[in-house]
Amino acid sequence: MPGTCVIGLQWGDEAKGKIVDLLTQQHDIVVRYQGGANAGHTVVVGEDVYKLSLLPSGVLTQGVTCVIAGGVVFNPVKAIEELDELLARNVDDCDNLKLSDRIHVIFPWHFAEDRVFDSNTSDGENIGTTQRGIGPCYRDKVGRSYAIRLGDLYRDTFRKQVQHNTEAKNQVLAAMVAEGQFEPLDADAIYKQYCEYAERLRPYVADTTEYLLSSAEAGKRILFEGAQGALLDVDHGTYPFVTSSNSSGVGVSNGSGVPARYINKVIGIVKAYTTRVGGGPFPVELDNEIGQQIRDQGNEYGTVTKRPRRCGWLDTVAVRYTSRLSGVDSICVMLLDVLSGLPELKICTAYEIDGKRTNIFPSHVDDLRRVKPIYETMPSWQEDLTQAQSLDDLPQAALDYVDRVSQLVGVPVEMVSVGPARSQTIAVGSSPLVTAKS
Ligand code: GDP
Ligand code: IMO
Ligand code: MG
Repeated sequence: MPGTCVIGLQWGDEAKGKIVDLLTQQHDIVVRYQGGANAGHTVVVGEDVYKLSLLPSGVLTQGVTCVIAGGVVFNPVKAIEELDELLARNVDDCDNLKLSDRIHVIFPWHFAEDRVFDSNTSDGENIGTTQRGIGPCYRDKVGRSYAIRLGDLYRDTFRKQVQHNTEAKNQVLAAMVAEGQFEPLDADAIYKQYCEYAERLRPYVADTTEYLLSSAEAGKRILFEGAQGALLDVDHGTYPFVTSSNSSGVGVSNGSGVPARYINKVIGIVKAYTTRVGGGPFPVELDNEIGQQIRDQGNEYGTVTKRPRRCGWLDTVAVRYTSRLSGVDSICVMLLDVLSGLPELKICTAYEIDGKRTNIFPSHVDDLRRVKPIYETMPSWQEDLTQAQSLDDLPQAALDYVDRVSQLVGVPVEMVSVGPARSQTIAVGSSPLVTAKS
């Protein structure tokens, strides 16, 4: 059974990119299947740092096929930018890239809509989207009337689609934007530009659903690279402060077209503390000097938008929920080194709501706003962990912390990460999945 999934269990940026890169060597195919260029996955190879928003993190390993499957919303400009950057940096494996002809394409009107009416929820609160046109493109996909898929760019009807959409979008945007602030979109210019993108991308376009199905049937080893985190899942996350796709484990099959029967392992990625970018409730948030210390030590600034990430203690009520939701077999505890030097550590083990203690993650955002986190205090450690090569090199307090996380979440720990580099990874037990590389 060939399928492994890497899923973020918090609000994104758990260091999924690092783990995907490490696991790529044991796989034949790496697949991005949801989200789009709202993601920012960092991979460090030796001295080189790669920040990938759209291309799968597997692209840095030779001989692996990388797939962007139909569930992704696709910004062709970003894809070409990333391809060019990788080629300029002599990453020569981009030939092995396949783009689904079913992926929905992001157009200039999607960016405009994201700016105009996707920044707020229906009751006026700021979602703080990445402004990458993600929500508007998914809305058009589900709505069907204004959707354009990658395969459409190679058909005669493409010009008509662009004309039809531009006229409608101009009307809607003109009505929403303040007088004098709206520059109507030009259908001919968009058509011409997107034809150029289509030509550049033509060699990569394929029916990836068929490719992945036959690969799975042939026993090929497929790694599914989740984007965002499970708490941002549009159906099961902290709605409406979420992204517009199924970013928990439940999204793998619908985004990729590969049925669950081919998935035999789900790895949950957990930061040793919590971060969140954008709006929405965050019970364990540390809006104080400890939060700032974590932000500084973890360099917690957005990969895509450079926004300071909100920081807080680890919330195991949330992670236990997302781990169950995603069907996680094991977790990787990331950025453990960042917690060095704090006076003490806290882990949220339960919530109190209306005077009652619970370990159930609330389904309504208003209830999540009202919860009071109940913390367990754990001893901290002062040592630098970044040189640790095995569990034996970690101070007892760090081992106890990781152990407690595992107990509270209810799944075993597979890897512990103590720095961004491939070599700063400790495999726990006899994990067959990882051999840390330099
Ligand atoms: P992703 O979106 O889940 O792939 O995560 P990001 O790349 O947005 O953010 C994770 C950040 O942490 C990146 O800058 C990584 O290089 C870095 N990183 C990964 N693992 C570790 C670790 O164990 N320790 C530290 N200090 N940084 C890490
Ligand atoms: P990776 O894959 C962290 C957040 C945005 C915003 C909300 C909706 O790097 O973990 P969107 O643009 O998707 O409509 O924004 O989701 N968000 C992320 N936060 N990491 C990400 O991706 C994110 N992708 C979206 O900040 O709160
Ligand atoms: Mg990220």
